[in-house]
Amino acid sequence: MTRKFYGKTSMLGGRRFNRRDFLKMGGAGLAGATLLGAAGCGGGGGSFNGEITVGFGREASGTLQKLIDQFNKQNNDISAKWRVMPSDTGQYFDQLRTQFQAQDGSLTLIGGDVIWPAQFAANSYIIDLSDRFTESMRSKFLQGPVESNTYEGNVYGVPWFTDAGLLYYRKDLLEKAGFSGPPTTWDELKEQAQQIMQDEGTKFGFVFQGAEYEGGTVNGLEYINSYGGSVLDPNDASKVTIDSPESVAGLEAQRSMVSDGVAPQAVSTYAEPECEAPFLGGDAIFCRNWPYMYSLAGTENFIDPEMIDIAPLPAGEGGESVSGLGGWNFFINAFADPEAQDAAWEFVKFMTAPEQQKFYSLGGSYLPTLTALYDDAEIKESVPAVRLAGEALKNTVPRPVSPVYSDMSLQMAEQFNASLGGDASPQEAISSLQTELQSIADQAPS
Ligand code: GLC
Repeated sequence: MTRKFYGKTSMLGGRRFNRRDFLKMGGAGLAGATLLGAAGCGGGGGSFNGEITVGFGREASGTLQKLIDQFNKQNNDISAKWRVMPSDTGQYFDQLRTQFQAQDGSLTLIGGDVIWPAQFAANSYIIDLSDRFTESMRSKFLQGPVESNTYEGNVYGVPWFTDAGLLYYRKDLLEKAGFSGPPTTWDELKEQAQQIMQDEGTKFGFVFQGAEYEGGTVNGLEYINSYGGSVLDPNDASKVTIDSPESVAGLEAQRSMVSDGVAPQAVSTYAEPECEAPFLGGDAIFCRNWPYMYSLAGTENFIDPEMIDIAPLPAGEGGESVSGLGGWNFFINAFADPEAQDAAWEFVKFMTAPEQQKFYSLGGSYLPTLTALYDDAEIKESVPAVRLAGEALKNTVPRPVSPVYSDMSLQMAEQFNASLGGDASPQEAISSLQTELQSIADQAPS
């Protein structure tokens, strides 16, 4: 059963992008906005001493710190300091919201999730960059990420890197078992995993992000979407459509990974970092993760990159392969000192310039946001996700677009986790979500 969407605009929640769209649009999801109380007043936080503070979560490859060091070497007047924020995007968001509500300008620049800009812009927590990030600059970036930073016609963020869910697999083990390629359906993934676990004694078949947090929402949605389910009506974002046999089939497939012994029960507590050790440590055959994980292969006691490869995520029965879309952007704090904001802009220009984006992509296997870098031979050679973006990331789905997305996500994370952990049946989780999400949607400003 294939879903059909007849969306009015590209901003609709369930819309999928094909490969051409992905390259054209850059694959970033379009974020929803939640109104979080009164808008802040902006303004200064004292005299600027030349130091800007940049917020971002964990950067496992070490490449971000290298770029910050390069920037500091090249600049006499400005120095950038990284404030390490939570790697869990939901916790990072909560921390920022608290700071913004206190009109705290100490974090000058925010490396932030693709699902945030509209929400922060609506509350005047971040500044309008339309005059700085000019149309001619924007035209060099993938269109999707730019759109995801645009709110009511103004652009509030500069796309730094984009993200899409991938299937990592053990090339060596699949070859040895005689499989001609990675699985293209979830059922096939289970079959391959079960056979290899039996023949080779590999501990886990599949690991992914099943914990109760934003990443759990993305993973659950990938199953639901890959079976043809949707969260919102693509023609009417105020209508919740999650209660369908397709959505239930999606969560059943996810739950069966655990109940059929392919994924460990503990997967319901895993975020991205918890997936690295089992897969890169050689204990798992398959792993769902973002492009960044590839750069960790071969480091410390992790297996070599030659033993692994990546593929599009498997399709649901009667559905299609679907990748959740992510990505990170730079936002300037509206409460920071105006001089610090100017200095932050210098840092943004440095970080998103072709040379630094290339360095970042090569160092951490990230998907760049400058279109031209998708044709860069060196990047194509060493960043497999870039190759896949051109060839195989056919269906990328943004998270539901709604002014109340962050509230919806909390409910989805809870129910998807309950279903995965066996605390609710997939049908129960979906039925609860239908009611909960509809009541949140009903409160959304129209
Ligand atoms: C990745 C994505 C981001 C998403 C997060 C969930 O960092 O880029 O968009 O929200 O994972 O854990």
